[in-house]
Amino acid sequence: MRTDPIPTRQLDELATFIEHLPPTRTIPWSRVGKPLTPAEERGRRLFFANQQPDGTPIPLALRCQTCHRPPLFTDRLLRSVGTKAPRDASGMFDTPHLIGIGASAPYLHDGRAKTLEELWTTYQKNDLHGVSSYWSKEQLNDLVEYLKTL
Ligand code: HEC
Repeated sequence: MRTDPIPTRQLDELATFIEHLPPTRTIPWSRVGKPLTPAEERGRRLFFANQQPDGTPIPLALRCQTCHRPPLFTDRLLRSVGTKAPRDASGMFDTPHLIGIGASAPYLHDGRAKTLEELWTTYQKNDLHGVSSYWSKEQLNDLVEYLKTL
């Protein structure tokens, strides 16, 4: 925070520097683009699932990939996923990108979720934030393993 504006030239240099920083990743750069582990691959399939294992379709609007669309894992739109707190003026929030998500706890707009798991064990309401009610504990672990590769 500063009171005087940054001179234009310095501002350009600062912006250039920031734009060239690699995004924070939670896996080593040497693993980026390499094959996923079996658990990560199972989690990836959950993220991109169009239907539950018994064939029940997952509505388009509730699929992770609809809102968290690659490559940035966001559609850049305001969405409601049942996370409105009593003091929030609206339940619509920017759909966050998920790049480096494993390194950016806490989660949700007010940081109420301390871990990725809590998004679905504690703060999921009526399958409003993706359809997670059919997941086993192991499947949630797989999904989290996949998210940490982004
Ligand atoms: C309808 C659109 C929509 C769908 C479907 C959706 N999300 Fe989200 N997601 C959001 C929004 C909006 C937020 C931010 C909510 C908030 O801050 O209260 C969010 C937050 C998150 C976060 C926390 C990000 C952060 O920085 O705090 C993760 C991780 C996440 N979503 C993963 C998923 C996964 C995995 C699925 C599928 C099981 C999914 N989302 C389905 C819109 C969606």
